[in-house]
Amino acid sequence: MKIRDILRAAQSSIAGRYIPDARFEAELLLMHSLGINRVELYTDLERPLSGPERSAYWHLVERRLCHEPAAYITGEVQFYGIDLRVDRRVLIPRPETEMLVEMALGFLSHRTPGKALVADIGTGSGAMAVALARLCPDAFVYGIDISPMALEVARLNVARYGLQDRVMLVQGDLLGPLPQAVDLVVANLPYVKQDELSGLMPEVRVFEPEMALNGGVDGLALIGRLISQVGKHLLLGGMLLLEIGHEHGEAVVGLVRNRLSDWNVKVVRDMAGINRMVVIETVPVAAGSKVGTAGMNRPLE
Ligand SMILES: C[S@@+](CC[C@H](N)C(=O)[O-])C[C@H]1O[C@@H](n2cnc3c(N)ncnc32)[C@H](O)[C@@H]1O
Repeated sequence: MKIRDILRAAQSSIAGRYIPDARFEAELLLMHSLGINRVELYTDLERPLSGPERSAYWHLVERRLCHEPAAYITGEVQFYGIDLRVDRRVLIPRPETEMLVEMALGFLSHRTPGKALVADIGTGSGAMAVALARLCPDAFVYGIDISPMALEVARLNVARYGLQDRVMLVQGDLLGPLPQAVDLVVANLPYVKQDELSGLMPEVRVFEPEMALNGGVDGLALIGRLISQVGKHLLLGGMLLLEIGHEHGEAVVGLVRNRLSDWNVKVVRDMAGINRMVVIETVPVAAGSKVGTAGMNRPLE
């Protein structure tokens, strides 16, 4: 059987399970299985596959037919132009979250020169922590997650990009383990309502860690706690960027107004016009001030 034919067969089986982008997925799995890139795939469409090549590929296709996400099958995903290792210990980073990185980079580029301190809360695979540390050579990033297993994956990604000296991974609950106040907190915390978990697509419900999804009764359990804690962990002039569920904009603004009354807060929509992110800024920096909101000193260099 030639590459062209097996691809066609895989595409039709995948589409038969109502999985979108069946051709793309069939190609992705074949490129992974044969260890080739897309150009090689397309120049080799007439090449016959050996028996072992066929069965190795079809084994991957069968995993996809059982709704295992392609990223877990290949063990790789792209996020903000970087290649990350992923497996079932972590949520697969989503393209939507790249918006937080974009906004974070904008914030960091406007800071006065010097080491910027960043905390990525609920770092998972380390996607945002690694992207920010890679693109901001002056940044020191804490990646915090409650899941020790997620941090094992994050550690692989940090090491992959040689960022061990600028990304510190810490296990713990939200901002609790943060050793010093920071300029920027980014967080994509779980925000699915508990009673909506069972309605998620099988790729998410069956394969992704519940700890990465479950946001409690209203979806805001963790985000609410983070907002309550953040006051004493952000330096003056600092920013908190939160990814939110599309229906959570107003509620999150309410939480901020309640708990951080003089801070600026705004909801930002994505390209599809969906509420995606909340941007929260501390009161403007007093000239020359280096002291954090909780009076914490600027860090250890
Ligand atoms: C939605 S995933 C996001 C992962 C990653 N930031 C990303 O965008 O791909 C949420 C992450 O928050 C972590 N998490 C859940 N509860 C937490 C808590 N109380 N403190 C710290 N991290 C938590 C989960 O383990 C998971 O890795």
